[in-house]
Amino acid sequence: MRAVDIIQRKRDGEELSADEIDFFIQGYTRGDIPDYQAAAWCMAVYFQGMTHRETTDLTLSMARSGRQLDLSDVADVVADKHSTGGVGDKVTLILGPMVAAAGQPVGKMSGRGLGFSGGTLDKLESIPGWSPELSTQAFKEQLRRVGLVVAGQTEDLAPADKKLYALRDVTATVPSLPLIASSVMSKKLAAGAHVILLDVKVGEGAFMRTLERAVELAEIMVAIGKLAGRKVAARVTDMNQPLGRAVGNALEVKEAIATLRGQGPDDLTRLLVAEAGHLLHMCGKVASEEEGEARARRTLEDGRALAKFRAFVEAQGGDPTVVEKPDRLLPKADVVRPLLSPRDGWLSRVNARTFGEVTVHLGGGRERKGDPIDHSVGIVLAAKIGDRIEQGQPLCYIHARTETEAQTAAEALLEAYDWSETPVAPPRLIKRTIR
Ligand code: URA
Repeated sequence: MRAVDIIQRKRDGEELSADEIDFFIQGYTRGDIPDYQAAAWCMAVYFQGMTHRETTDLTLSMARSGRQLDLSDVADVVADKHSTGGVGDKVTLILGPMVAAAGQPVGKMSGRGLGFSGGTLDKLESIPGWSPELSTQAFKEQLRRVGLVVAGQTEDLAPADKKLYALRDVTATVPSLPLIASSVMSKKLAAGAHVILLDVKVGEGAFMRTLERAVELAEIMVAIGKLAGRKVAARVTDMNQPLGRAVGNALEVKEAIATLRGQGPDDLTRLLVAEAGHLLHMCGKVASEEEGEARARRTLEDGRALAKFRAFVEAQGGDPTVVEKPDRLLPKADVVRPLLSPRDGWLSRVNARTFGEVTVHLGGGRERKGDPIDHSVGIVLAAKIGDRIEQGQPLCYIHARTETEAQTAAEALLEAYDWSETPVAPPRLIKRTIR
């Protein structure tokens, strides 16, 4: 077999066999197939797509590219949650502690920012000392002791995804249904969780722009998970405007801590309670989703979720006092300036994608593979879709390294907004549940 023939067959829209997919994935993981061939193959997949059978074979091959964790010696049920990527999506940072505080161990492998969407590891690395690098033994030990662990992709767990993820980020091949499904599910299968809740984002700030495509992605991921013997469900949720109010790594950690204190934005808190309740029910911890939601809400009210976050940060080398002093410990941008509304009206559009792209340009994401990022920069929204706003009121606050960068960001962000003369209803957050 030759890599070039496999690229050519996919370029011409043919269906690849399981052996061909495995040859390509294992060869790329070993380094026998170079980045430029893998980039060409990703682009061919982007344009030609894959059948569900090919996507399943791709996922299983990627999961097999390294070790596959068996967590049954740690707990009977280990839970995981994964988002397909959005803007301002800090759900993992809060949901993990909530579910773990409710007595359900959560062990997950997360990724870095991808294109305009943020990444959980980049966010958590805003906390001084926090590290995603854990050996398998340390992963299991922390899961047992703390009940919550968020690890980066190690060399030995789904290494194919680690390489492909970084390559796709810089070759404009992220928004492909088979590539997203295999990326998410290979990590989930390799990390060993028994119960997985997927959050499939849809809208302007998501890789899936239409509800139809998002539902298709959700269904294929649920089907792959079931085939691999895991309990999986998916929620398709709105990503037309940023989730919560903060976009940018340290800013999102700060918002996550506020939410864990019960002082978070309404949309974010509602989504968290619903997803945590669903996950607790899937894990068999409660008799219904409603009971799960009530239990999840209590962890925010009585401080247990915040305490769990603190213990988790400390276990992974971070400074736990970030919980009490986020303003002192998290990196802060030199320039903070408001963007003022040029007119009156009800906000009818707050394009999440623009917020993600501007944050990358401010330095909060990567333009090239391996670029360093600036954790301090980003944007904090002062108003969201449905809010009434008067001319001259702040729409958002830009956190930048320089005045010039803040000015460039302001010009781009103005394009993200639309106003209506009549009242506008805020978008519904949860659009579909696939069980
Ligand atoms: N999240 C992932 O883990 N992979 C993708 O491809 C997109 C979102």
